Amino acid sequence: MDNRPIGVFDSGLGGLTAVKALRRLLPGEDLIYFGDTARVPYGGRSRETLLKYARQDIAFLRSFDLKAVLIACGTVTSTSLDTLRKENDLPVLGVVEPSCREALAVTKNKKIGMIATLASARSGAYERTLKGLDADVQVVSQPCPLFVPLVENGRFRQGDVVIETVAREYLTPLIEAGVDTLILGCTHYPLLKDIIGEICGPGVTLIDSGAASARALRQQLAAEGQLTDRQQGETRFYVSDRPEDFEKLAAVFLEEPLSRGAEQEKLPVMISVRGEQYFDDVDPNATELMTEGTLEQTEDGFLLSYQETELTGMEGTLTTFEIGPGRVILRRSGSVNSQMVFEEGRQHTSLYETPYGELSVDIQTSRLLHNLTERGGLMEIKYSIAVEHVVTGRNCFKIRVRRK
Ligand code: DGL
Repeated sequence: MDNRPIGVFDSGLGGLTAVKALRRLLPGEDLIYFGDTARVPYGGRSRETLLKYARQDIAFLRSFDLKAVLIACGTVTSTSLDTLRKENDLPVLGVVEPSCREALAVTKNKKIGMIATLASARSGAYERTLKGLDADVQVVSQPCPLFVPLVENGRFRQGDVVIETVAREYLTPLIEAGVDTLILGCTHYPLLKDIIGEICGPGVTLIDSGAASARALRQQLAAEGQLTDRQQGETRFYVSDRPEDFEKLAAVFLEEPLSRGAEQEKLPVMISVRGEQYFDDVDPNATELMTEGTLEQTEDGFLLSYQETELTGMEGTLTTFEIGPGRVILRRSGSVNSQMVFEEGRQHTSLYETPYGELSVDIQTSRLLHNLTERGGLMEIKYSIAVEHVVTGRNCFKIRVRRK
């Protein structure tokens, strides 16, 4: 028995096909879902980029103590499963093999169609797996690069002429080839099940890769004695971009409102903070802190947070930089409480609460620049501190952020 949560990820909404099935099959399990909505679609990207994204997705999920990871993404499974398995000391499951096994169990004429993203089709993973399981099978593959962007934009309903026209064009060669089974090899595609089913007709059985992977995970957890003994679990949703858009479509898709809203993911990062203090013209007094923290994307910038340590003399303090266009607010809370506002060429009064009492200081910023993206970057802030109009020191922050 293992009550830890299961981590599930995809580039966006698609992995919810696995979540929906997991909630039905294993209602007691806690799930942590991550949708990389800031970078969807994954389907046209290179193997190197996909591996990098997938490593970051897993690093985020593993900031929770998980018992297993389900890669609910055909594209990541097709290109990166073996490497990710080697790199992680917990069970990592994908969608390719479970879908292939289910397809082989239902096909009668051994002609199996497979639709997926460009990267999945290019990798040949589905064909290799199908032929590895049954050398006599005939596989007809068709990449459908427009499906994911259309689904992410909510165009998955029957009667939508755009999606229906695109689907007809992609599916016609498969129907002409006479397949009797069609693997929906991208987890977004089960959202188009009704449209695809109508075009293909009743003679073609559709295989839902998300649901197939959920069934495989249940089997594996049961075999390892790792199922929970809880009756009712909960699902937490994280995304790398605006939660609102995801929440709306996720609720439609899961056919139930999310019990709690989606949260913006906090990216685990390594932060090096060099603080320099100049008094007159003597050499600067510098402290350098290397620590783990988080980077969060906000409406107009970033939120960078880390815990101070003994090294800076502020142990027990959480430092947060709120980085917006042309302005950075530094907040400290805990053993030291303060707020400083930096804007190049401007002065702001800040209040310091120290163990010895409150102190009001003027912060004059002479330089503020950063090139942060969600991948990390640099930030530099030069400022002087004045107490009652007397400059008491000049300071500089040099902060380097790197994604873990
Ligand atoms: N759901 C993903 C998959 O299964 C979609 C990839 C994408 O974002 O293009 O392949």
